[in-house]
Amino acid sequence: MLFDCALMSQKHDKQKNVNLFHTARRLGIKLLHTDSRRYQTLNPIQKFEVMHAQEAIIAASEAGLLLKSHLSGKVLDFGCGLGGGALVLSYNGANVTAIDIDSKPIEEFSKYNLIDSVKIIQGDGIAYMDNLPENSLDLVTAFIFGPDFEGSLIRRFFATANHAMKPKGRILITSETGTLSLVDRNCCDGCGHFVSRNVFVVKGFEKSKKGVRGDSKNTVY
Ligand SMILES: C[S@@+](CC[C@H](N)C(=O)[O-])C[C@H]1O[C@@H](n2cnc3c(N)ncnc32)[C@H](O)[C@@H]1O
Repeated sequence: MLFDCALMSQKHDKQKNVNLFHTARRLGIKLLHTDSRRYQTLNPIQKFEVMHAQEAIIAASEAGLLLKSHLSGKVLDFGCGLGGGALVLSYNGANVTAIDIDSKPIEEFSKYNLIDSVKIIQGDGIAYMDNLPENSLDLVTAFIFGPDFEGSLIRRFFATANHAMKPKGRILITSETGTLSLVDRNCCDGCGHFVSRNVFVVKGFEKSKKGVRGDSKNTVY
């Protein structure tokens, strides 16, 4: 019985992958194939990050909320962790800066040295965006944001991402539903779009007020 369930689950994952690749091809998005050498060199957490980011990007693109111009533009991956999301973005031609406040994942990500084109920074992503000139990013991603049950981080994130994003830019956030509902209700008065329960997109022209200032120093790797 257990064996049957495992086989069914494997079959389901395989079918899910096939569907994802068909959709990606139709949308012109490049996905890292699980059989590719590049994917095989990743550790299990990075593999998870890659799959998660790919699914979110496909879902947002399929919904018409993310365009090729966003994916090939200047992108900040906020709270990048071990860099799986940044890898997917870079693979699609984005000029990526990946930032995380925690030095541990950043050191690990830097050691892997997977993508020369990604600028890796250890520091506060809020302060980083606040210090950017207005309208400088095509896309801000935050894969698996938070959790932030009180909403203070997400409020500051949203304010500074709005400041740094171009008028036609996008903010793509994935998180659990509670945090995303906080963004929707408290940060942008319902201006964003739920692609699914866990994927949320805000369009640049729907920008709200500007931001709260961060103050920590960032270390560029
Ligand atoms: C749940 S993890 C997600 C990591 C990765 N994006 C993924 O897809 O697995 C959230 C990350 O956000 C980072 N983070 C939290 N606050 C931050 C801030 N102010 N600036 C930059 N990174 C931050 C944390 O250190 C953590 O690595």
